[in-house]
Amino acid sequence: MSFNLRNRSLLDLKDFPPRAIRYLIDLAAELKRSKAAGNELPRLKGKNIALIFEKASTRTRCAFEVAVHDQGGHVTYIDPASSQLSHKESLKDTARVLGRMFDGIEYRGFHQSVVEDIARYSRVPVWNGLTDEAHPTQVLADLMTMQEFGEKPLHEMSFCYLGDARFNMGCSLLVGGTQMGMDVRIAAPTALQPPAALVAQMRELALTTGARITLQTDPLQAVVGADFLYTDVWVSMGEADEVWKHRIDQLLPYQVSTALMQATGKPRTRFMHCLPAFHNLDTEVGRQVYERYGLKEIEVTDEVFESDASVVFTQAENRLHTIKAVLVATLA
Ligand code: CP
Ligand code: NVA
Repeated sequence: MSFNLRNRSLLDLKDFPPRAIRYLIDLAAELKRSKAAGNELPRLKGKNIALIFEKASTRTRCAFEVAVHDQGGHVTYIDPASSQLSHKESLKDTARVLGRMFDGIEYRGFHQSVVEDIARYSRVPVWNGLTDEAHPTQVLADLMTMQEFGEKPLHEMSFCYLGDARFNMGCSLLVGGTQMGMDVRIAAPTALQPPAALVAQMRELALTTGARITLQTDPLQAVVGADFLYTDVWVSMGEADEVWKHRIDQLLPYQVSTALMQATGKPRTRFMHCLPAFHNLDTEVGRQVYERYGLKEIEVTDEVFESDASVVFTQAENRLHTIKAVLVATLA
């Protein structure tokens, strides 16, 4: 199946119809196979791509860089410290400059309105590499990973997202899962549930895609029958350090542990995480949280993270193939 996405921006998965998402996942699988076979065709030759990161990144930046390189294109990395971005030049002006030089722009930052403005003013395809509201390229990789491990079509699968569901990952998984007609469960305290307007919009969409949406506060009930349990950091980039104490109080019952994996009642439930994850004391933040609050593992236990059920590194690899699919589909 083909779908014309040429010159389109990917700002939020909501912008793409389910057929386009399906097409991108299939294209990513094809690109993954050709990379492994060593017969990938360079379809981005002569293309110049700007990567703007106002927040830190390992996976997203590397996936964009390697994808463009594999496809014969060129990238330029831009961050606030080494450019005029925001402090000496408005994003509107920067977008208009970059649009004259580059064929496409990746942007990671804070407000969704900023990535929308960059798309408006640059007039080239813009890809959202994460905002507070959405992380669409992550969810494409997640859907591809579920497809690989799920052993049945996506619309027959269920997943439960546990944690801060009002932020980028919870919202984008709700959108992506609804578009694919999945059984979508969200387990979070009332204060951290997805925004009501988004939920209403997704419930409306679910009428046509066949998705089931369940919002729960009880993690043990929410996970019953789920094929995948998905979590994310409890305090996201851009949030204040002071948030930790309250967030731990709110989210400790939602920590993904072996007991919670077993509560699905399914022996083959897989564990997913967009990463980076706090599952031991090997990180600075992990150690700080331990010193302050006595918690050795945060959103997921080390046992689950390191178990055979964990598919997190395939998810991370699939960032490359799905981002490459987005670039090829919108630029080549
Ligand atoms: N999952 C994800 O977006 O990772 P990075 O922050 O490392 O890009
Ligand atoms: N919610 C996390 C996702 C990281 C990929 C954050 O925004 O920091």
